[in-house]
Amino acid sequence: MLNLLNGDCLELMKTIPDKSVDMILTDPPYDISLGGGGCLKGRAYKDEISDLSINNGFDVQLFLDLLTCKFKSKQQFNLVVFCSRTQIIEYLKYADLNSIQYGVGVWHKSNPIPHCNNTYLSDVEYIIYLKGKSVKIGGDYSTKSQVYKSATNRKDKRNFKHPTIKPIPLLEKYLINHSSECDVVFDPFMGSGSTGVACKNLNRKFIGIEKDEAYFNIAKDRIENHEVTNA
Ligand SMILES: C[S@@+](CC[C@H](N)C(=O)[O-])C[C@H]1O[C@@H](n2cnc3c(N)ncnc32)[C@H](O)[C@@H]1O
Repeated sequence: MLNLLNGDCLELMKTIPDKSVDMILTDPPYDISLGGGGCLKGRAYKDEISDLSINNGFDVQLFLDLLTCKFKSKQQFNLVVFCSRTQIIEYLKYADLNSIQYGVGVWHKSNPIPHCNNTYLSDVEYIIYLKGKSVKIGGDYSTKSQVYKSATNRKDKRNFKHPTIKPIPLLEKYLINHSSECDVVFDPFMGSGSTGVACKNLNRKFIGIEKDEAYFNIAKDRIENHEVTNA
């Protein structure tokens, strides 16, 4: 099953039947500051993501409230979400208030954009999981590390034209750990469709939403024409 929708996920999510999703794996807009100095390369990147409005963050609380009913029960709540440093606290507060188990993983990028200003390198991205008691973490020794190390894939970035494209093996690792074959996986902020490609590789059903029409078309074309590599 493949269901791809073009529009605002906060609206379109209402059209997805309640209790129909096994896992949400998503990469929403980050709440990051684009101010300050930075090198030429860093500034070009900031302009790129600012044009897409993916630096403005989004209403985490509203998003969490809307998605809860998509899982089969509270015990089966199963969200894996990329987030900025400042968003971590909002997810953890939600987990704490709702007695949901959580953990934080890290993607350590070995080729971060250089900074010339008064900050650390942007060489980590955070991945939070929130899960109800019935969700078991599967996988094995090779998929269960909380740190994933790789360079940003410049080839994928060039081919699919998305500035914040995520590595397919990283998405596959979370799919393996948090879902099973034929499960329904939902990505409400699918960008260039990386989660859909990872789902196709691992035989998961996929629902994806993307607001930007150009990215939606890239994702649709990319997922539909993807030939499975990990059969
Ligand atoms: C961080 S990017 C996702 C990148 C994706 N993981 C990939 O590998 O290509 C977030 C995406 O969410 C989209 N977006 C932002 N607000 C949205 C909304 N309300 N509904 C649906 N998509 C939205 C943006 O256009 C952007 O492509």
